[in-house]
Amino acid sequence: MKAALRLDYGSPDTVHVATYARPKPGPKQVLVRVMASTVNRTDMGVLSGKPLIFRLFTGLPRPRNPVLGTDFAGQVLEVGREVQEYGPGDRVWGFYDAGLGSHAEYLCLDVRRPMALIPSGISYEHAAASAEGAHYAYNFIKRARVGPGARVMVHGGTGAIGSAAIQLLVHYGATVVATARAAHMGMVKTLGASQVIDYEKEDFTQIDTTFEMVFDAVGKSRYAHCKKLLGPGGKYLSSELGPHGENLFLPMATCLARKPRAVFPFPSDIPASLHLMSELLASGKFNPLVDKVYSLDQAQEAYLYVATGQKVGNVVLRMST
Ligand SMILES: NC(=O)c1ccc[n+]([C@@H]2O[C@H](COP(=O)([O-])OP(=O)(O)OC[C@H]3O[C@@H](n4cnc5c(N)ncnc54)[C@H](OP(=O)(O)O)[C@@H]3O)[C@@H](O)[C@H]2O)c1
Repeated sequence: MKAALRLDYGSPDTVHVATYARPKPGPKQVLVRVMASTVNRTDMGVLSGKPLIFRLFTGLPRPRNPVLGTDFAGQVLEVGREVQEYGPGDRVWGFYDAGLGSHAEYLCLDVRRPMALIPSGISYEHAAASAEGAHYAYNFIKRARVGPGARVMVHGGTGAIGSAAIQLLVHYGATVVATARAAHMGMVKTLGASQVIDYEKEDFTQIDTTFEMVFDAVGKSRYAHCKKLLGPGGKYLSSELGPHGENLFLPMATCLARKPRAVFPFPSDIPASLHLMSELLASGKFNPLVDKVYSLDQAQEAYLYVATGQKVGNVVLRMST
């Protein structure tokens, strides 16, 4: 089979498409013909092995699995003798942040890994694009416990996480103010934001409103600059560690000092994310933002594009010809 791989941790230049042995399913595994996947920011972490602590999960000193890819949508071809949950022909999707080897034509997956059936009528590409960013967005929102009527600032409404966060927050009844570049403001409005701030023209931390949650979905701000936007009980969350990893330590400091709180969740409940996203996709309440679609042969190009930090929503890798 064809797969996008690399032999060591490195940059997108090391990604190449080569022939790789097609896996055979073990007793608790399913063999999936991968139809679509995304190249996302988690893939960039698996590729580079950074932050270094990530290598405890992806392999030391080299990547455990040379084949890249953290999410997939495809069709079950074969099941192992102990598998009862799925059968040949099932349309399935899944995600695992330490890597699945899904940037390949075929994938063997243990059924105990996070996986779900794709709702009928949802394309493989849309399913794949509803996994990674939506999973993080959901876990951050869940941790902030925002409910109906809450006001939320989403900094970076165009990323995979930001674009999913806006839709999820609107689903939960929150009012969302988001930031984007001028060219993307209209698109962010269509996701459900009630107001969009052009972050190149206006400093969003200076606006005269308070929020229950400030969510920096692109990790470009700091708690110190955003705390004035938080009302009593308000929470600051960022998708990045921040300068010197400050977002790891701020939750403790702000908890003790009774200031507006900083929270830094470690999103782990992937099955809950897949379950929620399946429901929202099926009911038409979530529509993933897809920027570009590449073929598997163009994997390196896709990684180079995602590395620019300028993708809009999700970048899809299509496996089938
Ligand atoms: N904590 C975790 O577990 C976790 C997991 C995955 C990813 N991450 C991190 O989360 C961040 C977001 O990931 P993602 O996949 O959503 O990002 P992404 O899709 O790569 O975000 C790209 C978007 O960010 C916007 N952007 C760039 N610079 C900006 C700025 N200064 N202010 C506002 N928006 C800006 C751009 O929008 P415009 O074109 O409008 O500028 C672009 O569309 C990444 O830093 C990633 O490393 C964290």
